[in-house]
Amino acid sequence: MTRKRILTGDRPTGPLHLGHYVGSLQNRVRLQDEYETYILIADVQALTDNFEHPEKLEANIFEVALDYLAVGLDPEKVQFVIQSMVPELTELTIYFMNLVTVATLERNPTLKEEIKQKNFTKGLPVGFYTYPISQASDITIFKAHLVPVGEDQLPMIEQSREIVRRFNRLYDRVLVEPKALVGEVARLPGTDGGAKMSKSLGNCIYLGDPPETVRKRVMSMYTDPTRLRPTDPGHVEGNPVFTYLDVFNPDKAEVEELKDRYRKGRVGDVEVKERLFRVLDVFLAPIRERRNEFASKPDRVKEILVEGTRKGRAVAQDTMAEVRTAMKISYKL
Ligand code: TRP
Repeated sequence: MTRKRILTGDRPTGPLHLGHYVGSLQNRVRLQDEYETYILIADVQALTDNFEHPEKLEANIFEVALDYLAVGLDPEKVQFVIQSMVPELTELTIYFMNLVTVATLERNPTLKEEIKQKNFTKGLPVGFYTYPISQASDITIFKAHLVPVGEDQLPMIEQSREIVRRFNRLYDRVLVEPKALVGEVARLPGTDGGAKMSKSLGNCIYLGDPPETVRKRVMSMYTDPTRLRPTDPGHVEGNPVFTYLDVFNPDKAEVEELKDRYRKGRVGDVEVKERLFRVLDVFLAPIRERRNEFASKPDRVKEILVEGTRKGRAVAQDTMAEVRTAMKISYKL
């Protein structure tokens, strides 16, 4: 029996952080034995808002690959695929563009939010505006059943499902309607207490950060602004230090005991942060070690990327042959 497939991906605009881990990487690692997994390093998508600095991509493709290997994605089981090296994706995107209305793109909440945030001063590029369609190609060319992603990506999966339904009804049933899988912690707040970790907001702890960097980030974390002295009763809800402890400290009793003392004004921020630093260090140390090990073998990492991309492209080519036949554009000349 053939296994069901996973396709997911990341834009290579920088290394990955704890938010990526709990939102998606953890699920990918957990499911790598059960699903045939392809992970797309989405450099073409990254270009849609970085086209003025394409030179950033190459180094970041490598960083992202290191993060994948560091968290325990096994290249014997999982294929890492570089998007720009699968030109079939571009072709499928063009065909999909006929199946999507401008009004649908206009309603996409994640796209709307990003357009606002990025503040394109020279006007909104068509490439950026249409990236949800290109992402639908990413997912469907692999006939993915499951897409492990952070919560912000749900509208992209919904867009993909709509396209698949239209395509299959209009032409032939060749595409698979994908389902999203969001991590246990859908959205990890930033160290500044903001809604999410985001590179552009500078509120991240990266998977490869050295201990001193993690320590500094933790010690300067936002906590409870209403609490001026360690003897003041503190708030645990909405306090990112406790959110992180909930997520990363496997000793739940210890967390409850700290929360109790915090609420009663019997523990200072510094002590709680010290505890969080130790918890994160235990979590990050093996990841950092694996990351450094692969970083010292760049040829091995390149080989993994080339091999993953080769296998991924073969899948894409098979799907495209079926797509062209279904669309009756597989001309016998
Ligand atoms: N949009 C995703 C992000 O910003 C990256 C991505 C590209 C992706 N193609 C994908 C995610 C396909 C899931 C499936 O992180």
